Amino acid sequence: MTSPDIVYVNGSFVPRAEARVSVEDRGFVFGDGVYEVLRAINGRLFATRFHNDRLRRSLEGIRISLRGSDTPERFVEIGKQLLKENGLLQGEATIYMQVTRGAATRVHTFPAADVAPTVYISVARFTPYRDLSASGASAISHPDLRWGRCDLKTLNLLPNVLASQAAKEKGAFEAMLIRDGVVTEGAKTNFFGVVQGALRTHPCDSHILPGITRSVLRDLAREVNVDLEETPIRADEIPKLTELFLTGTTTDVMPIVTLDDKPVGKGKPGELTRKLQRVLAESLASGSD
Ligand code: PDD
Repeated sequence: MTSPDIVYVNGSFVPRAEARVSVEDRGFVFGDGVYEVLRAINGRLFATRFHNDRLRRSLEGIRISLRGSDTPERFVEIGKQLLKENGLLQGEATIYMQVTRGAATRVHTFPAADVAPTVYISVARFTPYRDLSASGASAISHPDLRWGRCDLKTLNLLPNVLASQAAKEKGAFEAMLIRDGVVTEGAKTNFFGVVQGALRTHPCDSHILPGITRSVLRDLAREVNVDLEETPIRADEIPKLTELFLTGTTTDVMPIVTLDDKPVGKGKPGELTRKLQRVLAESLASGSD
């Protein structure tokens, strides 16, 4: 028997087909909200504290205050309950949590203080990209058309959606976003590259999302004596890349072996990429929280 598909909306656990939010919800009308995606392996969540901190920061960044007993920690508990209710305590799953500024008649300014945020949490079965992470994937470069606060994980993903679709239409896994002549990040991932032997990634500023996988990997790299320079890779350095990989909650360490139809380095996953792929896999398997 398959488990019913249960989601959480505004205080209630309900079958997905019965879950309702208002057509006036500001998430629907303005994309006025924030979200998180967490990874669960056999019911154990990965890097929960980092996700909670980032959710808190995103909420503060767009000035949404949670109500009553709602906190990121409580949302995690609800996420765990959903894993149980949906039979996802074994194997791989993701938890999606979203908070919007609530439902109110459409005006651009914030609604009245008594309008509570809308909270939606759901879980899904997740299958890691095992074959692709072994062989390596392809990417395209694409203009970064996003706003000036990419460090907040907001629902405004239209430039990311368009870039992802452009990648898909070219048979590529990810779009590598270029702003002012530098690689910022991917449409749904952060990028790391090796130029002249040095591992580099874009520093955390308002042009990238401070990825949880990025920061976990930065710490793991230090533990295995791999130096990381948080210096952006310029678009004109792309031909000099000998290794390239991306990181994300649903991508882990994904080698990029072809960029804009040209091989990166030798056209296969590099040694450093493989090493960091291994250390992240070990960390995920040990269920570090
Ligand atoms: N995306 N950069 C962007 C623009 C992202 O949307 C994401 C995550 C990342 C990687 O962050 P993390 O390591 O915390 O997952 C970087 C999620 C998974 C998504 O939108 O589905």
